[in-house]
Amino acid sequence: MSTENSKEKWILYSTCDEDSNSEIEALALQEGDVVLGVTGSGCRSLSLLVHNPKKLTSVDFSPGQNYLLELKLAVIRQLDYDKGLAFLGVDNCSNRWEIFQALKNSLTPRAAEYFENNRKAIESGILFSGRHEQFYVRFAAPMLRLLFGKGFKRIFAAQTLEEQRKIYASDINKSLWRAIVRYGFSDFTIKLILNDDKYKITNDVGSAGEYVLERLDHTFNAHLAKDNHWLSLMVNARYLDRKSLPHFLLEENYHAIARSSTEVEVVTANMLDYIASLPDGSIDKFSLSDITSCITRDEFDRLLGDVTRVSKDNALMCYRNFLARYHVPSSINRRIVRNSEMSERLTHDDISFVYTFEAAMILPEIA
Ligand SMILES: C[S@@+](CC[C@H](N)C(=O)[O-])C[C@H]1O[C@@H](n2cnc3c(N)ncnc32)[C@H](O)[C@@H]1O
Repeated sequence: MSTENSKEKWILYSTCDEDSNSEIEALALQEGDVVLGVTGSGCRSLSLLVHNPKKLTSVDFSPGQNYLLELKLAVIRQLDYDKGLAFLGVDNCSNRWEIFQALKNSLTPRAAEYFENNRKAIESGILFSGRHEQFYVRFAAPMLRLLFGKGFKRIFAAQTLEEQRKIYASDINKSLWRAIVRYGFSDFTIKLILNDDKYKITNDVGSAGEYVLERLDHTFNAHLAKDNHWLSLMVNARYLDRKSLPHFLLEENYHAIARSSTEVEVVTANMLDYIASLPDGSIDKFSLSDITSCITRDEFDRLLGDVTRVSKDNALMCYRNFLARYHVPSSINRRIVRNSEMSERLTHDDISFVYTFEAAMILPEIA
Protein backbone atom coordinates (compact mmCIF):
# COMPACT_ATOMS: atom_id res chain seq x y z
CA MET A 1 0.00 0.00 0.00
CA SER A 2 1.24 3.43 -0.85
CA THR A 3 1.96 5.37 2.29
CA GLU A 4 1.37 8.58 0.36
CA ASN A 5 -2.26 7.61 -0.31
CA SER A 6 -2.89 6.53 3.27
CA LYS A 7 -1.74 9.94 4.51
CA GLU A 8 -4.21 11.80 2.31
CA LYS A 9 -6.59 13.90 4.34
CA TRP A 10 -9.99 12.39 5.00
CA ILE A 11 -12.94 13.62 2.95
CA LEU A 12 -14.28 17.01 3.95
CA TYR A 13 -17.68 16.76 2.21
CA SER A 14 -19.37 13.37 2.22
CA THR A 15 -22.90 14.43 1.36
CA CYS A 16 -24.70 17.11 -0.48
CA ASP A 17 -25.19 20.52 1.09
CA GLU A 18 -26.50 21.92 -2.18
CA ASP A 19 -29.75 21.73 -4.13
CA SER A 20 -29.17 20.09 -7.50
CA ASN A 21 -32.58 21.20 -8.77
CA SER A 22 -30.99 24.61 -9.29
CA GLU A 23 -28.12 23.23 -11.44
CA ILE A 24 -30.54 21.16 -13.46
CA GLU A 25 -32.71 24.16 -14.25
CA ALA A 26 -29.77 26.49 -14.94
CA LEU A 27 -27.88 24.06 -17.20
CA ALA A 28 -30.84 22.71 -19.21
CA LEU A 29 -28.85 19.54 -19.88
CA GLN A 30 -29.20 17.74 -23.21
CA GLU A 31 -28.07 14.24 -24.14
CA GLY A 32 -25.24 15.46 -26.40
CA ASP A 33 -23.74 17.83 -23.80
CA VAL A 34 -20.13 17.82 -22.69
CA VAL A 35 -20.14 18.99 -19.07
CA LEU A 36 -17.37 20.22 -16.77
CA GLY A 37 -18.06 20.19 -13.04
CA VAL A 38 -16.47 20.41 -9.59
CA THR A 39 -16.70 17.14 -7.64
CA GLY A 40 -17.11 18.19 -3.98
CA SER A 41 -19.19 15.48 -2.31
CA GLY A 42 -19.87 13.98 -5.76
CA CYS A 43 -23.61 14.42 -5.32
CA ARG A 44 -23.91 17.40 -7.66
CA SER A 45 -21.96 15.61 -10.38
CA LEU A 46 -24.12 12.50 -9.98
CA SER A 47 -27.32 14.53 -10.22
CA LEU A 48 -26.22 15.83 -13.61
CA LEU A 49 -26.12 12.23 -14.92
CA VAL A 50 -29.90 12.00 -14.52
CA HIS A 51 -30.10 13.85 -17.84
CA ASN A 52 -27.62 11.53 -19.51
CA PRO A 53 -25.16 14.05 -21.02
CA LYS A 54 -22.59 12.70 -23.46
CA LYS A 55 -19.61 13.32 -21.17
CA LEU A 56 -19.03 14.61 -17.64
CA THR A 57 -15.58 15.59 -16.40
CA SER A 58 -15.64 16.06 -12.64
CA VAL A 59 -12.62 17.85 -11.20
CA ASP A 60 -11.43 18.30 -7.63
CA PHE A 61 -7.99 18.99 -6.21
CA SER A 62 -8.77 16.84 -3.16
CA PRO A 63 -8.24 13.18 -4.15
CA GLY A 64 -10.61 11.88 -1.44
CA GLN A 65 -13.55 13.82 -2.91
CA ASN A 66 -12.94 12.15 -6.27
CA TYR A 67 -12.58 8.70 -4.68
CA LEU A 68 -15.94 9.30 -3.04
CA LEU A 69 -17.54 10.10 -6.40
CA GLU A 70 -16.12 6.85 -7.79
CA LEU A 71 -17.55 4.93 -4.86
CA LYS A 72 -21.00 6.52 -5.05
CA LEU A 73 -21.16 5.88 -8.78
CA ALA A 74 -20.19 2.23 -8.25
CA VAL A 75 -22.91 1.93 -5.58
CA ILE A 76 -25.59 3.33 -7.88
CA ARG A 77 -24.49 1.23 -10.86
CA GLN A 78 -24.18 -2.02 -8.93
CA LEU A 79 -26.56 -2.03 -5.98
CA ASP A 80 -30.33 -1.93 -6.08
CA TYR A 81 -31.98 1.09 -4.45
CA ASP A 82 -32.62 -0.40 -1.00
CA LYS A 83 -29.15 -1.88 -0.72
CA GLY A 84 -27.55 1.32 -2.04
CA LEU A 85 -29.29 3.49 0.57
CA ALA A 86 -28.34 1.03 3.31
CA PHE A 87 -24.69 0.86 2.22
CA LEU A 88 -24.35 4.64 2.01
CA GLY A 89 -25.81 5.15 5.51
CA VAL A 90 -29.37 6.38 4.94
CA ASP A 91 -30.74 3.08 6.32
CA ASN A 92 -29.30 0.59 8.79
CA CYS A 93 -26.95 -2.06 7.46
CA SER A 94 -24.85 -4.65 9.27
CA ASN A 95 -22.59 -5.79 6.39
CA ARG A 96 -21.27 -2.63 4.73
CA TRP A 97 -17.68 -3.88 4.79
CA GLU A 98 -18.69 -7.06 3.01
CA ILE A 99 -20.56 -5.04 0.37
CA PHE A 100 -17.53 -2.78 -0.07
CA GLN A 101 -15.32 -5.82 -0.72
CA ALA A 102 -17.54 -6.66 -3.69
CA LEU A 103 -17.64 -3.04 -4.94
CA LYS A 104 -13.97 -2.19 -4.63
CA ASN A 105 -12.88 -4.04 -7.77
CA SER A 106 -14.69 -1.48 -9.87
CA LEU A 107 -12.83 1.44 -8.21
CA THR A 108 -9.42 2.72 -9.28
CA PRO A 109 -6.68 1.11 -7.15
CA ARG A 110 -6.01 4.38 -5.30
CA ALA A 111 -9.68 4.85 -4.44
CA ALA A 112 -9.98 1.23 -3.28
CA GLU A 113 -6.88 1.62 -1.12
CA TYR A 114 -8.12 4.93 0.35
CA PHE A 115 -11.32 3.32 1.61
CA GLU A 116 -9.51 0.14 2.69
CA ASN A 117 -7.56 2.44 5.00
CA ASN A 118 -10.77 3.97 6.34
CA ARG A 119 -12.86 0.93 7.21
CA LYS A 120 -14.68 2.63 10.08
CA ALA A 121 -16.12 5.28 7.76
CA ILE A 122 -17.40 2.60 5.38
CA GLU A 123 -18.88 0.58 8.23
CA SER A 124 -20.69 3.54 9.75
CA GLY A 125 -22.10 4.76 6.41
CA ILE A 126 -19.91 6.90 4.18
CA LEU A 127 -22.58 9.54 3.60
CA PHE A 128 -22.24 11.16 7.00
CA SER A 129 -18.53 10.55 7.57
CA GLY A 130 -17.03 13.73 6.10
CA ARG A 131 -15.27 16.17 8.40
CA HIS A 132 -17.95 18.78 7.64
CA GLU A 133 -20.85 16.35 8.23
CA GLN A 134 -19.28 15.03 11.44
CA PHE A 135 -19.37 18.54 12.89
CA TYR A 136 -23.17 18.46 12.53
CA VAL A 137 -23.64 14.81 13.48
CA ARG A 138 -21.45 14.89 16.58
CA PHE A 139 -21.80 18.45 17.79
CA ALA A 140 -24.39 20.75 16.20
CA ALA A 141 -27.37 18.35 15.98
CA PRO A 142 -27.06 16.99 19.56
CA MET A 143 -26.72 20.53 20.89
CA LEU A 144 -29.75 21.75 18.92
CA ARG A 145 -31.78 18.75 20.10
CA LEU A 146 -30.88 19.52 23.69
CA LEU A 147 -31.76 23.21 23.46
CA PHE A 148 -34.62 23.26 20.94
CA GLY A 149 -35.68 19.59 20.67
CA LYS A 150 -39.44 20.15 21.01
CA GLY A 151 -39.44 23.14 18.67
CA PHE A 152 -37.56 21.34 15.91
CA LYS A 153 -39.75 18.28 16.25
CA ARG A 154 -42.75 20.52 15.59
CA ILE A 155 -40.94 22.31 12.74
CA PHE A 156 -40.12 19.05 10.92
CA ALA A 157 -43.72 17.87 11.40
CA ALA A 158 -45.19 21.10 9.98
CA GLN A 159 -47.16 20.54 6.77
CA THR A 160 -47.56 24.14 5.68
CA LEU A 161 -45.25 27.14 5.58
CA GLU A 162 -47.74 29.15 7.60
CA GLU A 163 -47.63 26.58 10.40
CA GLN A 164 -43.81 26.40 10.21
CA ARG A 165 -43.36 30.20 10.33
CA LYS A 166 -45.44 30.38 13.52
CA ILE A 167 -43.43 27.60 15.20
CA TYR A 168 -40.12 29.17 14.14
CA ALA A 169 -41.21 32.50 15.66
CA SER A 170 -42.61 31.02 18.89
CA ASP A 171 -40.22 28.12 19.64
CA ILE A 172 -36.88 28.83 17.96
CA ASN A 173 -36.20 32.37 16.84
CA LYS A 174 -35.36 33.83 20.25
CA SER A 175 -32.22 35.43 21.67
CA LEU A 176 -30.52 32.07 22.47
CA TRP A 177 -30.96 30.79 18.90
CA ARG A 178 -29.74 34.07 17.42
CA ALA A 179 -26.68 34.14 19.68
CA ILE A 180 -25.79 30.52 18.85
CA VAL A 181 -25.99 31.11 15.10
CA ARG A 182 -24.17 34.47 15.30
CA TYR A 183 -21.24 33.07 17.28
CA GLY A 184 -21.38 29.57 15.82
CA PHE A 185 -20.75 30.83 12.30
CA SER A 186 -17.95 33.31 12.88
CA ASP A 187 -15.07 33.44 10.35
CA PHE A 188 -12.98 31.71 13.02
CA THR A 189 -15.34 28.74 13.55
CA ILE A 190 -15.92 28.30 9.81
CA LYS A 191 -12.17 28.01 9.28
CA LEU A 192 -11.99 25.60 12.23
CA ILE A 193 -14.74 23.36 10.81
CA LEU A 194 -13.34 23.37 7.29
CA ASN A 195 -9.78 23.02 8.60
CA ASP A 196 -8.17 22.95 5.18
CA ASP A 197 -5.28 25.09 4.06
CA LYS A 198 -6.53 24.90 0.46
CA TYR A 199 -9.43 27.14 1.45
CA LYS A 200 -8.93 30.84 0.81
CA ILE A 201 -12.24 32.10 2.07
CA THR A 202 -13.02 35.61 0.91
CA ASN A 203 -15.71 37.20 3.02
CA ASP A 204 -17.69 39.88 1.16
CA VAL A 205 -20.78 39.76 3.37
CA GLY A 206 -19.48 41.26 6.63
CA SER A 207 -20.40 39.20 9.70
CA ALA A 208 -20.65 35.52 8.66
CA GLY A 209 -22.93 34.83 11.67
CA GLU A 210 -25.36 37.64 10.76
CA TYR A 211 -25.40 36.42 7.17
CA VAL A 212 -26.16 32.79 8.12
CA LEU A 213 -28.84 33.97 10.56
CA GLU A 214 -30.50 36.02 7.84
CA ARG A 215 -30.39 33.00 5.48
CA LEU A 216 -31.80 30.69 8.17
CA ASP A 217 -34.65 33.17 8.76
CA HIS A 218 -35.24 33.06 5.01
CA THR A 219 -35.25 29.26 4.81
CA PHE A 220 -37.59 28.71 7.77
CA ASN A 221 -39.97 31.25 6.25
CA ALA A 222 -39.71 30.08 2.63
CA HIS A 223 -38.92 26.32 2.54
CA LEU A 224 -40.63 23.49 4.38
CA ALA A 225 -38.06 21.88 6.70
CA LYS A 226 -39.57 18.42 6.23
CA ASP A 227 -38.53 18.56 2.55
CA ASN A 228 -35.04 19.92 3.16
CA HIS A 229 -32.30 17.27 3.29
CA TRP A 230 -29.50 19.63 4.34
CA LEU A 231 -31.51 21.24 7.14
CA SER A 232 -32.44 17.77 8.33
CA LEU A 233 -28.80 16.71 8.46
CA MET A 234 -27.86 19.86 10.39
CA VAL A 235 -30.63 19.45 12.95
CA ASN A 236 -31.47 15.72 13.01
CA ALA A 237 -28.08 14.27 11.94
CA ARG A 238 -29.96 12.12 9.39
CA TYR A 239 -32.51 12.20 6.60
CA LEU A 240 -36.01 11.76 7.92
CA ASP A 241 -37.58 9.82 5.07
CA ARG A 242 -37.10 8.78 1.47
CA LYS A 243 -38.93 11.83 0.11
CA SER A 244 -36.42 14.27 1.64
CA LEU A 245 -33.15 12.89 0.30
CA PRO A 246 -30.57 14.74 -1.80
CA HIS A 247 -31.64 14.82 -5.47
CA PHE A 248 -29.29 12.01 -6.63
CA LEU A 249 -30.70 9.64 -3.97
CA LEU A 250 -34.38 10.05 -4.84
CA GLU A 251 -35.53 6.74 -6.24
CA GLU A 252 -36.31 7.84 -9.81
CA ASN A 253 -33.02 9.76 -10.02
CA TYR A 254 -30.99 6.86 -8.59
CA HIS A 255 -32.39 4.63 -11.35
CA ALA A 256 -31.81 7.27 -14.05
CA ILE A 257 -28.15 7.59 -12.97
CA ALA A 258 -27.76 3.80 -13.02
CA ARG A 259 -29.15 3.75 -16.58
CA SER A 260 -27.14 6.72 -17.89
CA SER A 261 -24.55 6.01 -20.57
CA THR A 262 -22.55 9.21 -19.89
CA GLU A 263 -18.78 8.88 -20.13
CA VAL A 264 -17.60 9.97 -16.67
CA GLU A 265 -14.04 11.20 -16.26
CA VAL A 266 -12.84 11.98 -12.75
CA VAL A 267 -9.81 14.27 -12.60
CA THR A 268 -7.68 15.18 -9.59
CA ALA A 269 -6.28 18.60 -10.44
CA ASN A 270 -6.64 22.27 -9.75
CA MET A 271 -9.60 23.40 -11.88
CA LEU A 272 -7.64 26.47 -12.95
CA ASP A 273 -4.86 24.32 -14.43
CA TYR A 274 -7.25 21.76 -15.84
CA ILE A 275 -9.43 24.24 -17.67
CA ALA A 276 -6.34 25.98 -19.05
CA SER A 277 -5.34 22.65 -20.64
CA LEU A 278 -8.67 22.18 -22.50
CA PRO A 279 -9.05 22.96 -26.20
CA ASP A 280 -11.08 25.96 -27.40
CA GLY A 281 -14.82 25.39 -27.89
CA SER A 282 -15.02 22.03 -26.13
CA ILE A 283 -17.56 22.42 -23.27
CA ASP A 284 -21.35 22.93 -23.34
CA LYS A 285 -22.13 23.23 -19.63
CA PHE A 286 -20.15 24.33 -16.56
CA SER A 287 -21.20 23.42 -13.00
CA LEU A 288 -18.73 25.31 -10.81
CA SER A 289 -20.40 25.33 -7.39
CA ASP A 290 -18.96 26.44 -5.00
CA ILE A 291 -15.37 26.79 -6.06
CA THR A 292 -15.56 30.46 -5.07
CA SER A 293 -15.06 29.45 -1.41
CA CYS A 294 -11.59 28.19 -2.26
CA ILE A 295 -10.14 30.58 -4.82
CA THR A 296 -9.18 34.25 -4.84
CA ARG A 297 -10.97 36.86 -6.93
CA ASP A 298 -8.01 37.01 -9.34
CA GLU A 299 -8.13 33.23 -9.77
CA PHE A 300 -11.88 33.44 -10.37
CA ASP A 301 -11.37 36.08 -13.08
CA ARG A 302 -8.73 33.86 -14.69
CA LEU A 303 -11.08 30.87 -14.49
CA LEU A 304 -13.86 32.76 -16.26
CA GLY A 305 -11.42 33.91 -18.92
CA ASP A 306 -10.77 30.24 -19.68
CA VAL A 307 -14.50 29.44 -19.45
CA THR A 308 -15.13 31.84 -22.36
CA ARG A 309 -12.28 30.27 -24.35
CA VAL A 310 -13.30 26.62 -23.87
CA SER A 311 -17.05 27.13 -24.11
CA LYS A 312 -19.05 26.17 -27.18
CA ASP A 313 -21.45 28.80 -28.55
CA ASN A 314 -24.18 29.70 -26.04
CA ALA A 315 -22.80 27.40 -23.35
CA LEU A 316 -24.43 27.63 -19.92
CA MET A 317 -22.66 28.08 -16.60
CA CYS A 318 -23.71 28.12 -12.97
CA TYR A 319 -22.00 28.39 -9.60
CA ARG A 320 -22.74 29.29 -6.02
CA ASN A 321 -21.17 31.87 -3.73
CA PHE A 322 -21.03 31.30 0.02
CA LEU A 323 -19.33 34.25 1.74
CA ALA A 324 -17.62 35.52 -1.40
CA ARG A 325 -19.57 37.61 -3.90
CA TYR A 326 -17.67 36.90 -7.08
CA HIS A 327 -19.34 38.20 -10.21
CA VAL A 328 -18.36 38.15 -13.85
CA PRO A 329 -15.47 40.59 -14.32
CA SER A 330 -16.19 43.60 -16.51
CA SER A 331 -13.41 42.58 -18.94
CA ILE A 332 -15.55 39.64 -20.12
CA ASN A 333 -19.10 40.55 -19.18
CA ARG A 334 -20.09 41.07 -22.82
CA ARG A 335 -19.41 37.38 -23.42
CA ILE A 336 -20.77 36.00 -20.12
CA VAL A 337 -24.32 37.22 -19.66
CA ARG A 338 -25.81 36.70 -16.23
CA ASN A 339 -29.38 35.44 -16.19
CA SER A 340 -30.49 37.81 -13.42
CA GLU A 341 -34.08 36.63 -13.20
CA MET A 342 -32.99 33.00 -12.83
CA SER A 343 -30.09 33.79 -10.48
CA GLU A 344 -32.34 35.69 -8.11
CA ARG A 345 -35.18 33.20 -8.26
CA LEU A 346 -32.91 30.20 -7.63
CA THR A 347 -31.11 32.04 -4.81
CA HIS A 348 -34.55 32.34 -3.21
CA ASP A 349 -35.74 28.80 -4.00
CA ASP A 350 -32.51 26.79 -3.48
CA ILE A 351 -33.01 24.80 -0.28
CA SER A 352 -29.27 24.84 0.48
CA PHE A 353 -29.95 28.47 1.57
CA VAL A 354 -26.45 29.58 2.71
CA TYR A 355 -25.42 30.16 -0.91
CA THR A 356 -26.36 32.65 -3.56
CA PHE A 357 -26.82 31.10 -6.99
CA GLU A 358 -25.45 32.46 -10.27
CA ALA A 359 -26.61 31.35 -13.73
CA ALA A 360 -25.19 32.70 -16.98
CA MET A 361 -24.82 32.10 -20.72
CA ILE A 362 -21.53 32.37 -22.61
CA LEU A 363 -22.09 34.05 -25.96
CA PRO A 364 -20.00 33.34 -29.06
CA GLU A 365 -17.06 35.65 -29.69
CA ILE A 366 -17.99 38.39 -32.13
CA ALA A 367 -15.42 38.40 -34.97
C1 LIG B 1 -16.80 24.23 -0.84
S1 LIG B 1 -16.68 22.65 -1.57
C2 LIG B 1 -18.20 22.26 -2.15
C3 LIG B 1 -18.82 21.13 -1.48
C4 LIG B 1 -20.23 21.12 -1.85
N1 LIG B 1 -20.98 22.05 -1.11
C5 LIG B 1 -20.84 19.77 -2.05
O1 LIG B 1 -21.92 19.54 -1.61
O2 LIG B 1 -20.19 18.98 -2.70
C6 LIG B 1 -15.81 22.95 -2.93
C7 LIG B 1 -15.17 21.73 -3.56
O3 LIG B 1 -14.40 22.24 -4.62
C8 LIG B 1 -13.09 21.77 -4.54
N2 LIG B 1 -12.26 22.84 -5.09
C9 LIG B 1 -12.19 24.11 -4.68
N3 LIG B 1 -11.34 24.84 -5.41
C10 LIG B 1 -10.87 24.01 -6.34
C11 LIG B 1 -9.95 24.16 -7.41
N4 LIG B 1 -9.36 25.32 -7.64
N5 LIG B 1 -9.68 23.09 -8.17
C12 LIG B 1 -10.27 21.91 -7.94
N6 LIG B 1 -11.14 21.70 -6.93
C13 LIG B 1 -11.44 22.74 -6.15
C14 LIG B 1 -12.84 21.49 -3.06
O4 LIG B 1 -11.84 20.52 -2.87
C15 LIG B 1 -14.22 21.00 -2.62
O5 LIG B 1 -14.37 19.62 -2.77
